[in-house]
Amino acid sequence: MSASSEAVAATDRDAKPAPDAAPADRTPSDWPPAPPGGWPLRTARLELRPVRLEDATAMADYRGIPAVTSFVPFEPQSVADVETAIRDRWNRVTETGGNVELVAELDGRVVGDVVVFWHAADDDSRGDRPAPGAAHGARGGDGAGEGAPRADAAHGSAEIGWVVHPEVGGRGLATEAAGALIDYAFGALGIRRLVARVDALNAPSRRVCEKLGMRAEAHLLENEWFKGRWGDEVDYALLARERRAH
Ligand SMILES: CC(C)(COP(=O)(O)OP(=O)(O)OC[C@H]1O[C@@H](n2cnc3c(N)ncnc32)[C@H](O)[C@@H]1OP(=O)(O)O)[C@@H](O)C(=O)NCCC(=O)NCCS
Repeated sequence: MSASSEAVAATDRDAKPAPDAAPADRTPSDWPPAPPGGWPLRTARLELRPVRLEDATAMADYRGIPAVTSFVPFEPQSVADVETAIRDRWNRVTETGGNVELVAELDGRVVGDVVVFWHAADDDSRGDRPAPGAAHGARGGDGAGEGAPRADAAHGSAEIGWVVHPEVGGRGLATEAAGALIDYAFGALGIRRLVARVDALNAPSRRVCEKLGMRAEAHLLENEWFKGRWGDEVDYALLARERRAH
């Protein structure tokens, strides 16, 4: 390659990132935003706070159980897998989306985790509507240094999920943790619509949605090829104003 073609290639690379380039990190220094009373979020039995690297062992204890991963989009995870997620993916805002990942402690032991996540808007149709994080000063614009967390495709919506250690399952802890996450998302994150996408066969998780007052909006037949079968998905949703009225 000649010196001039090298220069052209370098210019091309500068102008347009490679398709597999990591999305630019726009995580504000104070992400995730603290709730009004500060961390942790407290429920009757649980304390929820942003995940830390030292939680990996406790989380792998339940995320590593095959039965726990039957209906979630990941395989059983090792401590190293969880550490990678904590370092590289969780509690990040990038140009393609953002998330908040909280662990739930019961009597000082991490027994589960909950997540809220969204995809960045690729258009400007949201206009001046508030974006997630607006309540703590982050702005929805595209400008560098603004953090720029924006909800799913400009509509102020995000998705939520939950995992609880089977050793403490069936005691209402997922419902309790998810309830706190919902209030946090509608409050500190400024989200207005939350969705839970649940495998139709995942009876405990569907029950959690129902106990939280989420509406079953759609039953998608054979929606996706999931872990060796065509899976049905039930989409539950909740608006901030519905939560206030609940
Ligand atoms: C889904 C999950 C988080 C629920 O955790 P949990 O702490 O047991 O949930 P809760 O106790 O708050 O509620 C579970 C409800 O499901 C019910 N339930 C449990 N097994 C059930 C079954 N086989 N059929 C019908 N209902 C069932 C429980 O009785 C309870 O309802 P109730 O309070 O009316 O009695 C947990 O099972 C889990 O981590 N699963 C694996 C990960 C996963 O699938 N996450 C959800 C992805 S969408």
